[in-house]
Amino acid sequence: MRIVILPDPAAVAAFGAQQLISQLQQKPSSVLGLATGSSPVQLYKRLVQAVQAGQVSMAEVTTFNLDEYLGLATTHSQSYRHFMNTHLFDQVDIRLAATHVLDGLSSDPQKACSAYEALIRDQGGVDLQLLGIGRNGHIGFNEPSSSLVSRTRVKTLTEDTVAANRRFFQPDEFQPHLALTMGIGTIMDAKQILLIATGQDKAEALRHTIEGPVSAHCPASILQMHAKATLVIDKAAAQGLQ
Ligand code: F6R
Repeated sequence: MRIVILPDPAAVAAFGAQQLISQLQQKPSSVLGLATGSSPVQLYKRLVQAVQAGQVSMAEVTTFNLDEYLGLATTHSQSYRHFMNTHLFDQVDIRLAATHVLDGLSSDPQKACSAYEALIRDQGGVDLQLLGIGRNGHIGFNEPSSSLVSRTRVKTLTEDTVAANRRFFQPDEFQPHLALTMGIGTIMDAKQILLIATGQDKAEALRHTIEGPVSAHCPASILQMHAKATLVIDKAAAQGLQ
């Protein structure tokens, strides 16, 4: 596992975006695994700028997002499909049909998860998977105690994760406690993994991820077992490291 510690969130976003840009320059038809949340927002901004400046194209790219809330329509302002369209897809030259986000309103969620796994396989697997990390060490919505070989499935969110994400919802708005998520085994199948994290509230999770034992108590710790995983973090997030 390669650890890159940079001064601040802007440097993390710039480094992360450059990784994606280089990947797309080397392989224009890359399959990307993508994340939502606050962590990748600035990275996507830089990627959009690079595409709009003609530095790189996403016309041949296929994407698979990590997760989606169960019970939210794609049009809901807090659905991850809406997030991706807003922050990236609508602003670049990607074919919307080549962007895949799990369907939060699926009538048969488990079937949708199996179909998602099959689709990733059909596309030859994920070349580069972008990840954030939860304060409790989750990746995707694989909460602590998730099987380290899990596949795409329905997952109950922990109270901590629900609380952490409450900031995105209106005070009296329905906030799902269930999500569809790629499994840890699914994530680990990616040829390369890039995790970005900033801020002191991620320091404890990163300490367990990098220096702790590999354990389902900290799902991100499995990245120690990946041959090509890079963690790009800022100084504040690196505070707990020895
Ligand atoms: C989002 C995802 C989550 C987030 C994590 C961190 O698609 O998979 O694992 O990466 O919850 O969220 P932020 O970046 O908002 O702190």
